[in-house]
This record gives sequence, C-alpha cells and structure tokens, in this order.
Amino acid sequence: MKGKTIVLGVSGGIAAYKAAELCRLLQQEGATVQVVMTAAAREFITPLTFATLTGRPTLTTLFGNENESPLTHIDLAARADLFLVAPATANTLARLAHGFADDLLSATALAVTCPTLVAPAMNVNMYNKDSVQANLATLKQRGWIIVEPAEGELACGTSGKGRLASLEVIVAACRRALSPQDYQGRIVLVTAGGTREPLDPVRYLGNYSSGKMGYALAQAAWERGAKVTLISASQLQPPPEVELVPVQTAAEMLAALQERFSDADLVVKAAAVADFRPRAVAPQKLKKNGQIEPVVELELTEDILAILGRQKDKQLLVGFAAETENLLTNARQKLKAKKLDLIVANDVTRPGAGFGSDSNVVTLIYPDGSIKELPRLTKIEVAHCILDAIRILPGWRKTGQMGGAI
Ligand code: PMT
Repeated sequence: MKGKTIVLGVSGGIAAYKAAELCRLLQQEGATVQVVMTAAAREFITPLTFATLTGRPTLTTLFGNENESPLTHIDLAARADLFLVAPATANTLARLAHGFADDLLSATALAVTCPTLVAPAMNVNMYNKDSVQANLATLKQRGWIIVEPAEGELACGTSGKGRLASLEVIVAACRRALSPQDYQGRIVLVTAGGTREPLDPVRYLGNYSSGKMGYALAQAAWERGAKVTLISASQLQPPPEVELVPVQTAAEMLAALQERFSDADLVVKAAAVADFRPRAVAPQKLKKNGQIEPVVELELTEDILAILGRQKDKQLLVGFAAETENLLTNARQKLKAKKLDLIVANDVTRPGAGFGSDSNVVTLIYPDGSIKELPRLTKIEVAHCILDAIRILPGWRKTGQMGGAI
C-alpha cells in the first residue's frame, strides 16, 4: 500500500470506534489515510481521534473545509486510490446504493473512479432486512467490493451476522483491491508447513517449518486475483478467502494435491515434507523398556513433487530447496529431477532466512540455469517476487484456460 491514498469513510454505528484501529493498520501498511466522517459517526467517535492518528484534518462537511479545495469531494476523489467505507451502516448503504450526494461521504463516493469497498456493520435483523440486502446487491452489481460482516455477539446484545468484519480481513480486501489482478482466473495450489509422520498415538517425526512462507504465497496469489487452495500442515490461520485443506502427513498432502491437480494452473510447494517416516506406527504409546535402546526403522515417503512432475500437463510446478550446504548445486539437481519450472533455493542457515522467521533470503533458479538472487525480504515480499518470476515463465500463457471461478 506504499504511496497509496485511502479515503476512509466512517459512518455512524457503534463499530465506528474500530475504524481508529483500522486507520492505524492501513497506515502501517504504508497507505496515506484521509478520513471522512458522517454526522452520525461523530456521535460515536470524535474527528480529533482520526486527526491525531493520521496527522491530517478529518473531513466532515461538504463545504467550507479549511485548507481544502472548495470542491472537497472532487479533490478527494481525484486523490483516492481506494475508497473504503467502514463501518457502513444500513443508512449509508442505502444512500450509496441510491446515489445520494448531500454529505461529503456520499458525494465523494459518486465522484471516485478508484476501487470502492464497503464493510457493513449493524444489528442482525437490520442486516437481514430485504431493503439492506437489496442495497448490498445493487452496490455489488455496480462493482463495489463487499467485505461481509462476521457472525457473533453484537453490541446491541443479540448475536448473528452483523459484526464488522475483522480488521485483518478488511485490510486484506484493501490489499487485493490495490493489487494488479495478474493472477485472475488462475487456480493456484500452495503447500505449507512441516508434515508430521506419526510414530505412535502421541509422537511424530517433524521439522521446524512454521508455514509462514507458504501462507505468504497463498496470500500474495489471492491478492493478485487467483483462486487459491492452501494445503497446509501448519496450525496458522489461513488468509481470508483462501480455501484451507489441513493435512498432517506426506501421504495426505499428496492425496490432497492429486485430487485438485488436473484443474490447477500452478503448484507452489513451500511445505517442508518429511523424506522419511516410521515404517510402522505403534497402535499404543510406546513404553520405555528397561535398558533396551529403541530403534526406529524408517521408510521413504512419497516424493510429491517428483510424482506431480511426471503427471504435469499445462501446470507450472514450483518447488523450494531447503539446503544447509551446496545451495545452488543441490537446488539445480532438484529442479531437474522433479521436472520443475522454477526452484526457490533457500539456504536455511542464513540469518533471517528459512524456518520460522518473518523474512527470507532466496535465490530463484530457472530451468535454463539462470539465477536471480533476492536480498533479505519479508516473506510476503519474497512471495510477490516469486509470483512475478512465474508470470514470465514460458509456460505461463498456457495457464488460466480453465478460467478459475473467483
Ligand atoms: O514454513 P516456514 O517456517 O516459513 O519456513 C519456510 C521453509 C524453510 C520451509 C521454505 O522456505 C522451504 O524452503 N521449503 C522447502 C522445504 C523442503 O522440504 O525442502 P526440500 O529441499 O527437502 O524439498 C524440495 C522440494 O520438494 C520442496 O518443494 C518440497 O516441498 C518437495 N518435497 C520434498 C519431499 C517430499 N517427500 N516431497 C516433496 O514434494
């Protein structure tokens, strides 16, 4: 969101107080936030709160705004890269759906040409009312992005659908609305986390993967318009609107991928998959037995990428190589052996790289042998660089033929 201006319209419901935190989160993402409040919103929270957070005056009226152009709504609309109304009350939804222009928020909504989002919040019965649903349908049909409210306890004492969507969900929707939609129509499968191979009912063989790298890839692909399925052996919460398929073992990961592989355009395997598993899983917890040292016999797991590499048709296959030595040589061998279109070589011994960290340091290796070294970046930045690289692979134009329903 760096360099982007978000006009944040706040209307008058109890969730208006959450808009202050939303404002802060959007700024943390690099956006400049200009707040516009309705008269009703000012009953719940003061313009001073937003002015303090944003460092710029909060705009509340159509006319007479000091230091602003006389046509504030036109000027604001011209500056806006994104127009977001959060919370949007039933009244504000009605005014937006019917093209009212008698306050700054509604007039600006008519003047903007940028992407527009609403995040409704109200009592469950109000939300379910035909008129409100019809207004939402109208807005949706006209291209507004609706960030659906969540279900749960409501401030009025009832419970149901009507809570303002979580701020993370709203921020993610903003990121997607501001991103190039260059993965639109693509079906993307991402694997994440470390598989767990059971030894007995209470123990497993595992590794240190947190899932952060895979989740960042899933989020980045979703932001860029893809339909994303995350096949995950991690406990992390999935990004919003990404289908989550939880798995534990290498065999389960393979089965989940094979079920979806024929429809997929792209598979990115960031997961750390166990190469070995105990040959036998004990049905009961293994007990210590005097002085006898236990021996666990291992067998090879399925090499998922190698199997997909043999089955692939139009799909692009991207693997990772987690290495502690001979990074490029080992990664190149994996690229070739698994018939990959790209491999992400990851020296997991480098500071700020690999397992568990929020950043990563990787080198992209192409089938023609050329490489691209990336500096230390956050995992979401690394994910976007990988997606940029995939888009220029020769096989890219063969993808997207299924027109993945978004
Ligand atoms: O999850 P994080 O904490 O964010 O950490 C990120 C990461 C270090 C796990 C990630 O950046 C990474 O390097 N993932 C690959 C881990 C790995 O298993 O590398 P590998 O070199 O052992 O495997 C090579 C490739 O084959 C990988 O894409 C792997 O998913 C795949 N594989 C491996 C074994 C197997 N049986 N089947 C496979 O498909």
